[in-house]
Amino acid sequence: MLSLITSLTILAVSLTTDAQLSQQHFLTDKRILTPQIDQFIEGTLSSWNSPGGVSVAVVQLDKLDGLWTVETKGYGIANLAENKPVTEDSLFCIASNSKLFTTLATGILISNKTISTPITWDTKIKSILPDLWELQDRVATSESTITDAMSHRTGLPRHDLMYTRNDTTISILERLRHLKPSSGFRETWQYNNNMYTLLSYIPTALIPSHPPFARYVQDHIFSPLGLDSTTYSPRVAKESGNLADPMAREGVNKTEDIFGKGKPRAMRFPGWFLNEEKDGSFKSGAGGVIMNAKDAATWLQVLLLEGENPKTSEQVIPSDVIRKVASGIMVQNGEPTFTELSPVVYGGGQSRGVYRGHNYIEHGGATTGYRTQITRFPDLKLGIAVFSNDDDHGSAFIEVIKYRIIDAALSLPALDWDTRFKSRIRKSYEKYSSQKVARPSNPTPPPAPFQSLAGTYENRGYGVIELCLLGAPTHSTSCQDIVDELPTVLPGAVDRTIPTLIARWDRFWSTHIKLEHFDGPFFNLSILESRVGSSFFLRAMGGFYLHC
Ligand SMILES: *[C@@H]1O[C@H](CO)[C@@H](O)[C@H](O)[C@H]1NC(C)=O
Ligand SMILES: *[C@@H]1O[C@H](CO)[C@@H](O)[C@H](O)[C@H]1NC(C)=O
Ligand SMILES: *[C@@H]1O[C@H](CO)[C@@H](O)[C@H](O)[C@H]1NC(C)=O
Ligand SMILES: *[C@@H]1O[C@H](CO)[C@@H](O)[C@H](O)[C@H]1NC(C)=O
Repeated sequence: MLSLITSLTILAVSLTTDAQLSQQHFLTDKRILTPQIDQFIEGTLSSWNSPGGVSVAVVQLDKLDGLWTVETKGYGIANLAENKPVTEDSLFCIASNSKLFTTLATGILISNKTISTPITWDTKIKSILPDLWELQDRVATSESTITDAMSHRTGLPRHDLMYTRNDTTISILERLRHLKPSSGFRETWQYNNNMYTLLSYIPTALIPSHPPFARYVQDHIFSPLGLDSTTYSPRVAKESGNLADPMAREGVNKTEDIFGKGKPRAMRFPGWFLNEEKDGSFKSGAGGVIMNAKDAATWLQVLLLEGENPKTSEQVIPSDVIRKVASGIMVQNGEPTFTELSPVVYGGGQSRGVYRGHNYIEHGGATTGYRTQITRFPDLKLGIAVFSNDDDHGSAFIEVIKYRIIDAALSLPALDWDTRFKSRIRKSYEKYSSQKVARPSNPTPPPAPFQSLAGTYENRGYGVIELCLLGAPTHSTSCQDIVDELPTVLPGAVDRTIPTLIARWDRFWSTHIKLEHFDGPFFNLSILESRVGSSFFLRAMGGFYLHC
């Protein structure tokens, strides 16, 4: 889903000199976000041409004096219209970093000894939700436990296009039984957001007062830890005046410059159509938390203290729960992606591995306009959070910044992660471009006439779509509407010289689906997202091809 890219920009900062400087600094001063690191981060945002910015939290416990060094800072732009800078108070959607709150909430519930039907990590979902829980795979239906759901091993692939803008937690869970698995039960690690929607429903189902999930987390995690700016409510975040705009670049010619500036655009908030109230929505469990760097600093301390409130020393989350979700259950990466890294294992909303000889635990987050990474080194009592509001390259440069900070904290020579990530992006774009095959100039028609392919299709997991054939007479008023609004709603999305079928679909991640004829029985399928802002802003969310 994330576009991968190229640039000719070379970072002007000398990395070796920089590392030496910060090492000297480190001996006399516990700060990690030194002026050299500040300069590195500013330089990174500028060489990646970011329209947005990052906020950073770094915490480290000095084992000798027992004192925390806590640093929180913002860099770059949070708000386009007012040119407001990112600060330590800027709020970001942390996306999948929310999953840890979901598994910890589950662990708090598991630790609840007064609940009338106690559960464990190995309790079967079927026994908790006998009427609601069902998958196509009969073994997965009867055997799946909380552990299977949180470690992504039920056999279901993502199916992220199954949930619509009108769904609820229950309406999603009711349709899981209609989704096709793509592997056997417990065979492979396949990331699945819907299982976190499932986990978020368990407190509501088991506690007699049926608390909404967001309220359960508020009462048992956010409030007791003083995470006072952290919320599941976009409305609360907006009203604070601190919500960073999700930003994108419009009109970048990636062939010319994959890291091009384009025209900076504030995108519409992800999930803008959802309930904005404090009790959250179906998105809460998989990715609904909104947080700033200040709260991230507290959160990192809590995790490094295995559940203790750093100010009051109160044990808010049982330490065995923190350890359970951070222990590997499935193999996420069987091979290290770089020599300084190890293979990666996944627990519940947490991955872990080794970087330059040190254990780390982390999770990333990506949603429309926001990218986040929260990493901790449990043995070093070191934590780093990097949040960005750059939709195009945030995923990559938050890693560059994260590793630069870690290298400084470890007093090791800084590795050139910037060049590594840029070249990876360039290579993958080149691969994608070179593999693209142009439509034949004299294509063979499909086995059935185009007109016969138009019409209504239904899948019980995904719902109903009406495919409209463009450039052909239609008797359907909804198809006529699509044709009429094409120039404004989907500008530039359709090549009128190619037979094209298009459907509106009100998905969480996209608004339209397009099938463009390629040759014979082959069509290219694209998922499009038309966002209403000051004008319609179209982004292609992914491309596939279909065999009809
Ligand atoms: C524990 O369970 C009891 C009884 O169902 C409930 O009243 C209470 O809210 C629960 N507390 C937590 C933290 O789950
Ligand atoms: C979803 O709800 C909106 C109003 O909230 C409505 O306009 C739209 O038609 C609904 N979509 C579907 C697919 O039911
Ligand atoms: C993008 O740039 C390349 C190389 O300069 C050029 O050939 C191509 O026409 C450009 N594409 C668009 C859509 O402007
Ligand atoms: C469209 O699908 C064909 C057939 O699989 C493929 O070769 C081609 O590269 C695709 N075109 C694009 C633009 O992805």
